[in-house]
Amino acid sequence: MAYETIIIETRGKVGLITLNRPQALNALNSALLNEVNQALDTFEADPKIGCIVITGSEKAFAAGADIKEMASLAYPQIYLDNQFSGWEKVAGRRKPMIAAVAGFALGGGCEFAMMCDFIIAADNAKFGQPEIKLGVMPGMGGTQRLTRLIGKAKAMEMCLTGRMMGAEEAERSGLVARVVPLADLMAETMKTAETIASMSLPIAMMTKETINRADEVSLSEGIRFERRVFHAMFATADQKEGMAAFVDKRAAEFKDQ
Ligand code: CAA
Repeated sequence: MAYETIIIETRGKVGLITLNRPQALNALNSALLNEVNQALDTFEADPKIGCIVITGSEKAFAAGADIKEMASLAYPQIYLDNQFSGWEKVAGRRKPMIAAVAGFALGGGCEFAMMCDFIIAADNAKFGQPEIKLGVMPGMGGTQRLTRLIGKAKAMEMCLTGRMMGAEEAERSGLVARVVPLADLMAETMKTAETIASMSLPIAMMTKETINRADEVSLSEGIRFERRVFHAMFATADQKEGMAAFVDKRAAEFKDQ
C-alpha cells in the first residue's frame, strides 16, 4: 500500500520504517500513527522479518505529537477518542524493535523511541519531554517509561523543566543502549538488527516478552516467569540446533521452530 507519512522497506530479514514528515520534523499526527501500525502489522505478519527498525531523519527522529493537530482539541473529544491509545498497540508489538535516533526526539518522539526495545543514538541526538512548556505533560507513556529507564530524579528534572538531554548523557543515564557517529547510525543499527534477525525468531520474541515482564511484576514473579519460559524453550527445534551447533563447532542454522 502507499504510505504518505512513512517509508517502509524490507532489507533481508529486517523491516525498516522511516518517519517521513520532514516539513514538520516528523511530528506524530494521527495519520502517521495509523500508518506506523499498518506497517508494523505487515512486518509482524511476515515470518521472514526478524527485527524492525524505526528511524527518522538526520535532523529529527520526531519532534513530538503534532501540536497543530492537538491544539484545539477539547476534553470530551480527546477523552471519547481515547487520544494516543493507538500508541499502546505500537508499544505492544512482539517482534524486536530498535529505534535509530538522530536529531530531536522530543515529547512523543522520545516516547515513541522508548516504546522500542532499545535505542541506538547518533551523537547529534537530543532527547526531551518539553510538554510542560505547552501546558501539558507527556501523554504517550513518558512519565512512566522515562522514570523506569533513567530513574526518578532525572525524569522529574526533564519533565518539570523541559530541558533536552544530549546523546552522551542519554547513554550515561540508561536511556540509550549505544551512541554512534551520525554518519554510522544506519549501518550500525542495521548490523545490530541483522544480528537479532539471525537468531531464532520465537526465542528472540520470548526473550523480549520475558525482559518486559521485569517492568510489570515483582522480582520473584519475574524469575518464576523466566524459568517457565526458559523450560519451554527446550520444546523448540532451535534450542536443539543451537546447542548441537555449539558442540559441533559450527554456526547454528535456526529454522524459527
Ligand atoms: N508539532 C507540529 N509541528 C511541529 C512540531 C510538533 N511537535 N515540531 C516542529 N514542528 C514544525 C514547526 O511548526 C515548523 O513548521 P513551519 O515551518 O510550518 O512553521 C517545522 O516543524 C520546523 O520546526 P522549527 O521551525 O521550529 O525548527 P527549529 O529547528 O527552529 O526547532 C525544535 C526545532 C526545537 C524541535 C522545535 O520545532 C520545537 O520545539 N518543536 C516542538 C517540540 C515539542 O514541544 N514537542 C512536544 C510536543 S507535545 C507531545 O509530544 C505530547 C505527548 O507527550 C504525546
